[in-house]
Amino acid sequence: MNYARIVGTGGYLPEKVVSNADLEQMIDTTAEWIVERTGVEERRVAAPGETTCDLAERAARRALDAAGVGPDAIDLIVLGTTTPDHVFPSVATQLQHRLGCHGGPAFDVQAVCTGFVYALDIAYRFIRTGASRKALVVGADTFTRIIDWTDRGTCILFGDGAGAVVLEAAQEPGIIDSRLGADGRYKELLWVPAGVSSGYDKTRENAAFVEMRGSEVFKVAVTTLKDIAEQILAANRMRVADVNWVIPHQANRRILAATAKRLGLPEERMVDCVRTHGNTSAASVPLALDVAVRDGRIQRGDTVLLEGFGGGFTWGATLLKY
Ligand code: UT7
Repeated sequence: MNYARIVGTGGYLPEKVVSNADLEQMIDTTAEWIVERTGVEERRVAAPGETTCDLAERAARRALDAAGVGPDAIDLIVLGTTTPDHVFPSVATQLQHRLGCHGGPAFDVQAVCTGFVYALDIAYRFIRTGASRKALVVGADTFTRIIDWTDRGTCILFGDGAGAVVLEAAQEPGIIDSRLGADGRYKELLWVPAGVSSGYDKTRENAAFVEMRGSEVFKVAVTTLKDIAEQILAANRMRVADVNWVIPHQANRRILAATAKRLGLPEERMVDCVRTHGNTSAASVPLALDVAVRDGRIQRGDTVLLEGFGGGFTWGATLLKY
């Protein structure tokens, strides 16, 4: 069986910055409260008319450039998103069309903030079995489109963005292991109650917004991020000390700090983009990976642990040699 390795990363953030000072003008909050409780100082918001596919295309082209791979070589696209441009077709098929790499499978994965880690797991297994040689794996969301900007418990956290990697068949890892999980019992802690099949409240304008019981989500997130790191490391006879970089879902600085502490991981070895990205849902992990690759922190041969956690709840971990 083939292994699979990441040969290029890319990221894209929309231009518009929304600072905590901007939010002070919109809701009953203070910049100090937001920074102290979340670590977020600013987030990016897609322009009117700018869609998830637009962000995904920019990130994908950067990943292809970094990999030195032409779009025509891509034989699989897996894209994690919760905020597709349309009910259907998928963002992945539209991205495929824009890149001009027709014919191979292309599909979206819905695992909310774990979307990229789910997508990477699927592409990894396609490559392991020989069904794909070169895959484009994307996490992209315009999550602010499902945020109620009058709800101070959610609007402070989220931003828009996209991240992508090119994953290629290889003789050695690459991805060492990948594990996913979910537990649907937690649905109402973090969800959008409206939907295509269950219906929309027509008395409210655009009433499909995220509802979250933040402090309860917080506790499950920390426990899960610690547990899945320990499980994947133990299964591969590795310790936290063997990992150069941990990239958890960028939900909240305090979640990252609490996870690092429980794992006994020095915080300097955790990639943290919360301050400038906020929580970009499926884009959070590949965006942080791209930042750390491009600024030179992550070097070829480094051992990296990616961790996702999101609505559902869903979770997943990828252990890899970069
Ligand atoms: O991908 C997973 C996505 N979700 C998450 O990662 C969310 C995880 N949870 C969190 O990040 C935190 O729970 C929040 C940042 C959302 C909230 O922080 P917290 O420390 O858990 O606050 P809390 O919800 O327990 O609320 C404490 C107080 C409340 O006031 P009272 O009832 O004590 O008077 C809130 O009404 O803080 C109030 N509050 C705010 N105050 C100022 C909530 N939001 C704000 C705000 N500004 N923006």
